[in-house]
Amino acid sequence: DRAPIIAIDGPAGAGKSTVTRLVAKKLGLLYLDTGAMYRALTWLVLNSETAIDDEAGVAELISQCDLELLVGSRPDVPVEVRVNGKEVTDAIRSAIVTRNVSAIAAQKAVREKLVSQQREWGEKGGLVAEGRDIGTNVFPHADLKIFLTASVTERAKRRQKELTAQGKEIIDLAQLQGEIEQRDAYDSDRAIAPLKKAPDAIELITDGLSIEEVIAKIVQLYEREK
Ligand code: C5P
Repeated sequence: DRAPIIAIDGPAGAGKSTVTRLVAKKLGLLYLDTGAMYRALTWLVLNSETAIDDEAGVAELISQCDLELLVGSRPDVPVEVRVNGKEVTDAIRSAIVTRNVSAIAAQKAVREKLVSQQREWGEKGGLVAEGRDIGTNVFPHADLKIFLTASVTERAKRRQKELTAQGKEIIDLAQLQGEIEQRDAYDSDRAIAPLKKAPDAIELITDGLSIEEVIAKIVQLYEREK
């Protein structure tokens, strides 16, 4: 019996990270945050001489880069990320990385590098992976595919709550909503592996649901598929 793979995809701010982390913990599986990988390479490019839209330069820069993810080691906090030995766990969550990540994630060389690394980790199975193209592209044979979403208003509200809880600068709700919509549009419209619900994914609309309810639902779906 091969260890299972659960794919959780969806738009920005749908609560994928929290939900995926807790589902992994509950089922005793590893947690793979693929968004953190795209963010780490974005951070690297932003801190280099290479321009974001210089595809050849970006390809060259990332071909030599060493990306480490402490996968599943701390289920209660975001995954620890290192690029070329430098700890970037917090830096990859900054507004500037968030604003530039879609342009990096649309590039062929970037996706090839990261997808092959993700599949290597998935070979042994036993993980819950979250992202945009996990069910459609990275692990098309995943045992369970979830498309986690919520209305954009709900997602913006949750993001604002999160910023408040973290003691960060509060951003206006309309602005947050605009940024989320813009990133989703960019991710959905790109040529390679765009954000899309896989035909065999189960869509969970989480408006009005608590985190506990969403987790219970996913665990129940998983037990049923087993
Ligand atoms: O999930 P998170 O917000 O951290 O993802 C950051 C960005 O990384 C997304 O907006 C998208 O551009 C990219 N991404 C992707 N494919 C994935 C995961 C993330 O293109 N599997």
